Amino acid sequence: MTAVSSQPKIAKPKVVDQLMLIDGKWCHSVSGKMFDTVNPATGQVICRVAEGDKEDINLAVAAARRAFETGPWSTMSAAERGRILYRLADLIEKNMLELAALESLDNGKPLADALAADLPLVIKCYRYYAGWADKNHGKTIPVEGDFFCYTRHEPVGVVGQIIPWNFPLLMQAWKWAPALATGCTMVLKPAEQTPLSALAVAKLAHEAGIPHGVINVVPGFGPTAGAALTSHMDVDKIAFTGETTTGQLIMEGAARSNLKRVTLELGGKSPNIVFSDADIDDAVEGSWFGLFFNQGQCCCAGSRLYVEDKVHDQFVEKMLAKVKAQKMGDPFDQGVTQGPQVSAGQRDRIMGFIDSGKAEGAHLLSGGGRPQGPGYFIEPTVFTGVEDHMRIAKYEIFGPVMNILKFKDADEVIRRGNNNFFGLAAAVWTRDINKALKVSNQLRAGTVWVNCYDVFDAAAPFGGFKMSGLGRELGEYALQNYTEVKTVYMALGK
Ligand code: NAI
Ligand code: MG
Repeated sequence: MTAVSSQPKIAKPKVVDQLMLIDGKWCHSVSGKMFDTVNPATGQVICRVAEGDKEDINLAVAAARRAFETGPWSTMSAAERGRILYRLADLIEKNMLELAALESLDNGKPLADALAADLPLVIKCYRYYAGWADKNHGKTIPVEGDFFCYTRHEPVGVVGQIIPWNFPLLMQAWKWAPALATGCTMVLKPAEQTPLSALAVAKLAHEAGIPHGVINVVPGFGPTAGAALTSHMDVDKIAFTGETTTGQLIMEGAARSNLKRVTLELGGKSPNIVFSDADIDDAVEGSWFGLFFNQGQCCCAGSRLYVEDKVHDQFVEKMLAKVKAQKMGDPFDQGVTQGPQVSAGQRDRIMGFIDSGKAEGAHLLSGGGRPQGPGYFIEPTVFTGVEDHMRIAKYEIFGPVMNILKFKDADEVIRRGNNNFFGLAAAVWTRDINKALKVSNQLRAGTVWVNCYDVFDAAAPFGGFKMSGLGRELGEYALQNYTEVKTVYMALGK
């Protein structure tokens, strides 16, 4: 991912109250309830959104089931599904500015970032899986005896998807694109903080020709709508991205209901390791981006920054200059590189971590406070002298808080890097190829970046070791999440 700080002038969108999408119809919730979605840069309400609960989930799942069983989505040619997905990608591209603006408004990310990072990855993801639609085929298998044996990759069925607020459009694409390509039907519950862009893409999906009932969007809260989807007896699979403890609830709900298939993309506390032989300027740039991008609200944030003691002071000095140049402000303003956190709740949670860092004896070099005025802003914060046992070094902060730790050699930093219950991502900065290979092979993480950070591509899988999740999204691997393998034996020559 790369972000830029220049952008076309786009007005803040004016948004009317939003309904939910069930079976191709925009409707109120059964209860008639609405909830507010808020602009985190101002704290003001953008609009109200229909609030789904169990009854709405039941209706949406019934619609998805009907659409799955009666077609035409699951029964049309795979090539035709692919063509429709390409159309959806084209429509998203055509509406890129409006979608980016809606995302910035609801989430608080700088508009320039939404345009440079989020939207291109979203479009690429739909195109990538459009291409897979007619290529996900089974095998013929040379079994013993007079049998013809083959496998089919069939859609898993009705899919429930629960996504977070940090990359609403991108998480929707990661969930929808492979599910659509394989012929599934789905019910999405977007995060309550950021429901708007999901609803906007659902409108485009209809325009692209995705039949009614294939995608249903039920905004609402986790313990109500989310839990109802998780424990629904007629949902075949649940895909979730969010907090680890929520992931545990999802798995439990799936287990206690109908053993629906589960994929989880959860948090991280990713070690980012800078050796003294690295290009220090590159390492500073990449480490800055790897932590502060998206206001630090990234599951793969490089939030344990291990710097070899020999270059520690030099690295810190350069990093501080970079951090001081950060421009915080309204996501729609030119040149802004840091917007607000997504909500007051997240801001307070992050401030709690900053307080604990101070209390546990880390050195606060920069930031650490909240600016005066409206919005959920936090100053870009840097701690040095961080030790592995401190809370800020153990738990996911999900904010603009950089923790710098010192190390002496590769074996030590590998051991310390792996000493965490997460295993989502890691990075290593060095010009020594042997060191790069040793460290990347030995770190227990789903993705390792060498001399780079936050590189993503729809073709390459992403997911976590250990408590960072279950399964992989993106790439060919993600097709497995949305398919069942059927084995057929046919007797020959009888
Ligand atoms: P969360 O896990 O509660 O929310 C993510 C999604 O799960 C939302 O759509 C929410 O409505 C839903 N959800 C919540 N409780 C649920 C339940 N019982 N059943 C079904 N669905 C449920 O995360 P939250 O509270 O917004 O953020 C807390 C922390 O989680 C963050 O500070 C961060 O550390 C982590 N997080 C990690 C993300 C990632 O990308 N891995 C994304 C968002 C949060
Ligand atoms: Mg929560």
